[in-house]
Amino acid sequence: MRTDHLSFPCFLGRRVHLGVTGSVAAYKSLELLRLLVGAQVGVGVTLTASAQRFIGAESFRALGAQTVDTAMFAESPAEAQLGDPFAHLTPGKSAQALVIAPATANILAKLAHGIADDMLSTQALAFRGPLLLAPAMNPAMWAAPATQSNWRTLLDRGAIAIGPACGDVACGDTGAGRFAPVEHVYAEVLRALSPKDLAGKKVLVTLGPTREAWDAVRYLSNPSSGLMGACLAMAAWLRGAEVHVVAGPTAYDFPPGVTVTRVTTAREMLDAAAAAWPTADIACCTAAVCDFRPVPPSTGQGRKLKKRDLAVEAGAGLAISLEANPDILRTLGEGKREGQMLIGFAAETHDLLGQARLKLAEKRLDLIVANRVGVPGSGFDSASNTVAVLDRAGRSEQWPELPKPEVAWRVWDLLQLL
Ligand code: CTP
Repeated sequence: MRTDHLSFPCFLGRRVHLGVTGSVAAYKSLELLRLLVGAQVGVGVTLTASAQRFIGAESFRALGAQTVDTAMFAESPAEAQLGDPFAHLTPGKSAQALVIAPATANILAKLAHGIADDMLSTQALAFRGPLLLAPAMNPAMWAAPATQSNWRTLLDRGAIAIGPACGDVACGDTGAGRFAPVEHVYAEVLRALSPKDLAGKKVLVTLGPTREAWDAVRYLSNPSSGLMGACLAMAAWLRGAEVHVVAGPTAYDFPPGVTVTRVTTAREMLDAAAAAWPTADIACCTAAVCDFRPVPPSTGQGRKLKKRDLAVEAGAGLAISLEANPDILRTLGEGKREGQMLIGFAAETHDLLGQARLKLAEKRLDLIVANRVGVPGSGFDSASNTVAVLDRAGRSEQWPELPKPEVAWRVWDLLQLL
């Protein structure tokens, strides 16, 4: 699963403590550590005794954990001299979030009842910041009344639930209890570390290309990957917004906290976006919508058109009729009510600022992000973007080439200054 839409540059200096308990899914916590370290988050780790039956401390050290606690008490006086006698209080003092991933039924029971009989449960009892729990266990253990009661207790106290997912578990059973996808755990941890300056806002984002069928196997589209829109959606969600994504065909996946409507054509995208717009505070249209759709010959409905039926010889031309698609951003602009904010993009090969200014006015936008397409380091299917940003008051800024996650983060910063 891709995580480049989560590579935000603002977590340097933030710290999280990762607790790992004894589940077959313990090995997945290494991937979580790798992702967090890649985002420049400082990570301390505690492995319970059971976790160490599945996975060793050296792997965590090798992947960049700043500390790895494996026991409450030192094994020997020499070790005791080297260790920190107050390591059970360190996460509470230095980390901004505690995530236990995977979390077994046993640790949930201990946390619910305030039992502190090993290093992790003691650290958790002394931790006052956000507690994130990603359970992993057999479906019967998850469904057990004791586990469900403990889980409700923890959620009532404000713990953040990550999963569990439904599906096959290691023992061969199927049901709820699977460890959530590690990218979702990662996204939730970043959310716990992010500012909440978009809390209370409902944000609608259109992203990706649209695909317009000509017959059952051929279509018109463009190379948009959806990365820019996925970064804007994730940045808004991390910063506390309620986010609804309307996505054309794209490889990007979103955590369960984000509402996602997947569509194929421009007309489907319009229907989904127009339905969500009346209750949204902000819409950000990044989708590379196909302005035209092919008109399929009547014989092309639901089947592959045959060359012989089209009577096209090799090297001969074939005329395809196109008809105009609706303009989604313009439609949202026409229906914009007092207090709503609308952000558009402009993909241009020439006269970037002039074209962007026209679109800002014609589509009744509050902000437009103009990017050059057809050049390296910007536009479609690129990891970075070189943009100019213009607002309704006539202000404009030119930004250098930046990774798309950073462009997204800055767009939300700027919007709040309008
Ligand atoms: N847009 C849209 N629906 C369309 C076309 C564009 O919502 N049918 C939105 C895009 O998501 C973007 C903005 O309008 O936010 C500008 O898109 P762009 O492709 O740059 O320009 P167009 O308006 O399509 O005009 P042109 O192709 O002539 O440049």
